[in-house]
Amino acid sequence: MDALTYAWRSGAYVTRRRLLVTGAFAAMGAVTGSAGTAVAQPRGMTLRARPAKVSLGRRTVSTWTYNGVVPGPSIEATAGETVRVPLINALPANTTVHWHGIRIDPRMDGAPGFSQEPTRPGERFDYVFRVPDPGTYFYHSHVGTQPDRGLYGPLIVADPREPLSYDQEITVLLDDWLDGISGTPDDALRRLNASTQHDDTLRSAVLGGVAAEMHHPLYLINGRAPDAPATFHSAPGRRVRFRVINAAADTPFRVALGGHELTVTHTDGFPCKPVTVDSILIGMGERYDFLVRLGSGAFPLVALAEGKRARAFAVVRTSRRAATPAKDAKVAQLTGRMLNYEDLRAPRADQLPRPSRVVTVRLGMRPSGNEWTLNDRLAADPMRVQVDRGETIRIVLDNESPMWHPMHLHGHTFQVNVNGLRGPRKDTVNIKPRERLEIDVLADNPGEWMFHCHNLYHQEQGMMGALGYGPPPRRGTTHTGMHRPAHKRTH
Ligand code: C2O
Ligand code: CU
Repeated sequence: MDALTYAWRSGAYVTRRRLLVTGAFAAMGAVTGSAGTAVAQPRGMTLRARPAKVSLGRRTVSTWTYNGVVPGPSIEATAGETVRVPLINALPANTTVHWHGIRIDPRMDGAPGFSQEPTRPGERFDYVFRVPDPGTYFYHSHVGTQPDRGLYGPLIVADPREPLSYDQEITVLLDDWLDGISGTPDDALRRLNASTQHDDTLRSAVLGGVAAEMHHPLYLINGRAPDAPATFHSAPGRRVRFRVINAAADTPFRVALGGHELTVTHTDGFPCKPVTVDSILIGMGERYDFLVRLGSGAFPLVALAEGKRARAFAVVRTSRRAATPAKDAKVAQLTGRMLNYEDLRAPRADQLPRPSRVVTVRLGMRPSGNEWTLNDRLAADPMRVQVDRGETIRIVLDNESPMWHPMHLHGHTFQVNVNGLRGPRKDTVNIKPRERLEIDVLADNPGEWMFHCHNLYHQEQGMMGALGYGPPPRRGTTHTGMHRPAHKRTH
């Protein structure tokens, strides 16, 4: 009997939950200010989606959270295990949890209207799923603009035969924040929908034009703004594995660690042949793992909000005496060698079979300027890529729109084709304006899957399609899950 089961049966649920939250926070990499001892919490924990007041450094905001903290608790498991996460919806709105990047049972994917009904206020839903692949993942609500509130957290799947050797892991969640400062994300979406203009100042050369829809007032690392940054404690000479997750709604980040090179080892959870660079560009929904041998001192970990003249900031400290770097510290690595998809190769064991056919998905913008399309269609009448179980197809993502898009496929990890070579395994991939990018998808997980832009505002402005097995399902056949009133098991 695991700890959670025991806690429910013994009636010690509430106390136990507090312990778990404290433990999870401590496990996120010794963030300054977090208290308590780390409690081992394998195979999941209860998530209570609820409104809360949260400190982001000097500012306190009212937002929606999991378990009252931002980011939500770190959920940790080992590949092959079954994860159990009861969701209790204490929000005044429907919600779901999506397990981004996991090759999951579709009924557990948290994709409303595709494979699951959302969970209503006061109800609970038990997410129970196997995690087949090790790696860095995250979870977030998949209802409306909720992910631009505090409804996200890390999901880390350990490899039972980890081939890398390192001394410490540090999980880094990047986010852009507006909730409770400049209205809500719904207000932001209404403003975008009311305008046909794009803010031309939000430009990024590396993303080929306008990089984002809006300025967020804050950029966060592990829920902390630069004025009261997270501090990660380590020791000189330690080899540290950083797991970087971009959980932002509308912000691509350029990440660098002052005075260090980064040896990239994983893309979206999957291994790649190690490559050493100065900085990485990470789109919304992407993850990168990299190894660093730390020097002695206190170093700025910077995530430049690409095109926005702002940054997220944290400190990596290996010496007590070193002065804390300033939040606007100059970091030479930000303008050094940046990781490119061309640098990345999947190891042989992770290569997918050659594709047997090709389909094209065109990314477009309607003349309104505030509707984004896939093969000219909007989310209300979505485009659907049809596959048969067992085949590998090549999808050509052809970006005819004036902005870049981080396209994400649920339930699968595809292989990116770079310059005719077999590139990295990924589940989220950035396509610049006027670019065509090829991804190979092995159809090995039957279901109806979301296939969409991970710019949350583009998604909400129509950029949502499907990849499905066999003929399209009849409407209204969505799996209804095992919802039941929350009070039955919570006291
Ligand atoms: Cu992380 Cu459909 O999304
Ligand atoms: Cu987009």
